[in-house]
Amino acid sequence: MGIRFLLNGEAQEVEATPTTTLLYWLREQARLTGTKEGCNEGDCGACTVMVTDAQGSRALNACILFLPQLAGKAVRTVEGIAGPEGQMHPVQQAMVDHHGSQCGFCTPGFVVSMAVAHLNRRTDYDDQLAGNLCRCTGYAPIIRAAQAAADQPVPQWMLDDARAVQLLPPDGGAAGHPPPCIPKGADDLANWYEAHPEATLIAGATDVGLWVTKGLRELAPVAFLNQCEDLRGIVDDGKTLRIGAMVTLTELLPIMQGRHPGFAEMIRRYGAVQVRNAATVGGNIANGSPIGDGPPALIALGARLHLRKGAVRREIPLEDFFLDYGRQDRAPGEFIEAVSLPVQPDHLRCYKLSKRFDQDISALCGCFNIRVENGYVAAARIAFGGMAGVPKRASSVEVALQGQPWTEDTVRGAMARFARDFTPLSDMRASATYRLTAAQNMLMRACLDSRGEAVSVLEVRP
Ligand SMILES: Cc1cc2nc3c(=O)[nH]c(=O)nc-3n(C[C@H](O)[C@H](O)[C@H](O)COP(=O)(O)OP(=O)(O)OC[C@H]3O[C@@H](n4cnc5c(N)ncnc54)[C@H](O)[C@@H]3O)c2cc1C
Ligand code: FES
Ligand code: FES
Repeated sequence: MGIRFLLNGEAQEVEATPTTTLLYWLREQARLTGTKEGCNEGDCGACTVMVTDAQGSRALNACILFLPQLAGKAVRTVEGIAGPEGQMHPVQQAMVDHHGSQCGFCTPGFVVSMAVAHLNRRTDYDDQLAGNLCRCTGYAPIIRAAQAAADQPVPQWMLDDARAVQLLPPDGGAAGHPPPCIPKGADDLANWYEAHPEATLIAGATDVGLWVTKGLRELAPVAFLNQCEDLRGIVDDGKTLRIGAMVTLTELLPIMQGRHPGFAEMIRRYGAVQVRNAATVGGNIANGSPIGDGPPALIALGARLHLRKGAVRREIPLEDFFLDYGRQDRAPGEFIEAVSLPVQPDHLRCYKLSKRFDQDISALCGCFNIRVENGYVAAARIAFGGMAGVPKRASSVEVALQGQPWTEDTVRGAMARFARDFTPLSDMRASATYRLTAAQNMLMRACLDSRGEAVSVLEVRP
């Protein structure tokens, strides 16, 4: 049994191990070498391809995309961005006209990202191209090229994939190797995982991909969750917002824009577009990372985690899931079905500190859900990433604020409590002292921010 997908409009049936990356296969097997290998860890965008399915077309990094994630989908590489008769795509012509390429190593990745933005009529190029790194041309000519092509019609061949994928039967597996499991829903997954509790689950593969490309790990057995449509839902019943584990960060972003814009702004800085298009909410929680950006915001919002093993389901506060560094409250064979939040008025402020604005993991990240009534703190939930071995609430700080006037004096008094809540580490991202001081300052920032004072270097007002 092979993995079936469309490659530049042509049907493919591929046999390979389940953790063969698309980039490896393209370059070594299909001999399509236009797609480049830069970092091989999702950071540079040199390997960007367009993937189309029922949800639409999006840019993904081929270096951390496993072939079974493509079953039943259409892939377009830079070779397929030009037309079947060799006609240039409008973004390719614009790159020539505007001198958007010098050494050219990054150019195929940029061209694919630009062509996907062009197809989806996106013109927020700072975001759309943040996941593509260019070391020599500089971004101005590239953005000028994208702008010049924006009004050109989308070529027909770019539109064909959306129709063509509907005709493909989704399939998975590879002859001669342990077949990957590609469950068709949460029930299938629950049965299979209970019988194979030692297996590795693969959602967006933005973590697991690196275990293979950088850690050189052999993973078997594995299950790919990308066809579990019932894990993708976002449901608001008026009281609770339930977010399926397979919802991607790209899908979460517009939901949060309408509810908690501070969280949405943090998601906009989560990796870059290719990473957000793959990374899932469930993967961001399950990996147990102390510096993941999703958990602090979700904990501050009072999220609950929905876990399932076989037919047995349980629900816990999200903060209780993180037991210790590298240890979570998840039994063998148990998986995350969803996370849910109480529907609430917005009081959330999220601050991410990282060395780069885009495409960088947090040194620390603080999320403040502080409800003030008549000038007094009526409720405070504060959670941090990067301050401990797990995402963690600032419980003593919360207590120090509760019932107090929401003033700079109260904040100064509460700042000392951070040292009770956290004993941060020094590492390559930040020293312990920096982390503690920055966390304290973030509380002051939240206070000033809530009064409408300018606190962001991106929002300096006179
Ligand atoms: C270039 C780059 C930039 C990044 N930037 C950021 C960033 O800014 N902020 C940030 O927080 N993270 C960042 N990450 C880390 C990563 O994207 C996230 O942690 C992501 O959310 C993981 O989700 P995934 O779906 O890709 O998980 P996967 O890699 O598929 O899985 C991660 C782990 O979760 C497990 N898992 C997945 N789904 C489930 C489930 N439903 N139930 C149980 N276990 C499950 C897997 O078995 C694995 O152990 C970045 C990664 C890369 C490569
Ligand atoms: S090679 Fe750098 S993102 Fe894939
Ligand atoms: S043109 Fe050389 S890296 Fe972009």
